[in-house]
Amino acid sequence: MGSSGLILGIESSCDETAAAVVERGARTLSSVVASQIKLHARYGGVVPELASREHLRAIVPVVRTALDQAGITLADLDAIAVTSGPGLAGALLVGITYAKALAFAQGLPLIAINHLEGHIHAVLLHEKSLAGGNVTTPEEQEEEQALALVVSGGHTHLYLARPVHNAWSYSLVGRTLDDAAGEAYDKVAKLLGFGYPGGPWIDALARFGDAHAVPFAFAQIKTKVHLLGKAPRTKAARTAPIADLDPHFLFSFSGIKTAVLRYVELQGLRPAAPLPLTAKPPQNKQEALALCPQQTLDLIASFQHAVVGDLMKKTFAAAESLGARRILVTGGVAANRELRARFTAEAQLRRLLVAFPTLALSTDNAAMIAAAAWPHYQSGEFAASDLSANPSLALGR
Ligand code: KG4
Ligand code: ZN
Repeated sequence: MGSSGLILGIESSCDETAAAVVERGARTLSSVVASQIKLHARYGGVVPELASREHLRAIVPVVRTALDQAGITLADLDAIAVTSGPGLAGALLVGITYAKALAFAQGLPLIAINHLEGHIHAVLLHEKSLAGGNVTTPEEQEEEQALALVVSGGHTHLYLARPVHNAWSYSLVGRTLDDAAGEAYDKVAKLLGFGYPGGPWIDALARFGDAHAVPFAFAQIKTKVHLLGKAPRTKAARTAPIADLDPHFLFSFSGIKTAVLRYVELQGLRPAAPLPLTAKPPQNKQEALALCPQQTLDLIASFQHAVVGDLMKKTFAAAESLGARRILVTGGVAANRELRARFTAEAQLRRLLVAFPTLALSTDNAAMIAAAAWPHYQSGEFAASDLSANPSLALGR
């Protein structure tokens, strides 16, 4: 087994083709992300068939660039890590197939990484780089357990992450029953006439509105009703069972999306681009501000305030109930400024630690995959040669 500590990470679970080289799970030598956002933007969301085709086009140059930027060749690597799920089946398969071929050709071990574990490690990687990038195992850093909120376009999950010897173990604490928080951002932005992804638009415009103008409320979730009801409707909801979870730590974001729609219809609000989306949506914040009446800005601010408030309430309640003194917030929505500010303020008030990844590490990337792979490498947990994509792969219990 080699001893360079260098792992090549490959990520292709959704609409980003990414490759990165990370040393001992702590020092990023390169991180390359080819985003398909422009391609999907004209359809208002990710089109799976187009995503797979674009991954096929991008994977070879992205991996080559990651190796070049790290100043290494394949021969310098200790292992190759790849996202095996959850995500879009065809998209995942591109990364997996290429990673398998590279690993086989080079005689390197292959490590399968859960995308959600990757998001959690994005925060740990950032913390390690702040600490000088030379920490190698959870034990050496004397890591303590952490409550991780993974909040993105496909997921809103709460995990308790515990360091166990060289590795991490995860248990699911809560999750969304329907839409992910990022999905709600994207849908609300779309109905208001903004392009995909919607989160950054709402983030940028929310501070121009009155967050208390529209009183959105989140009702307490009743697990039994959901258990007796129909099968879960969304991808996010299918990735984990809810029977054993505390209903206080369950999320639901489809209701607020409908409430926004009702409000828009009742108030006769004008979208930023006339719907259906034949007209060009605004291209920058100035254009958006010029097109949005104050009432729309108030609606945007109120929506964001409510979503961030709900994420906060349940995350801090779970941290308290589980005795976690450390909170990690990660995934695309963790890039949100109001979310960062309010989580930071609340953590200070409660004397807890809260950590986020850098903005670049918040959204999908491969550095988080290579970093998450390091503990697996150390404990010799390698993927079998018949590794395949698992679109609904669950993390932990
Ligand atoms: O983690 P990510 O890149 O991909 C998934 O695994 O889903 O997250 C993308 C999601 C999108 O829903 C996008 O609208 C949201 O993250 N997002 C944001 C912000 N930046 C991205 N949501 C709120 N505020 C932001 N600044
Ligand atoms: Zn993601």
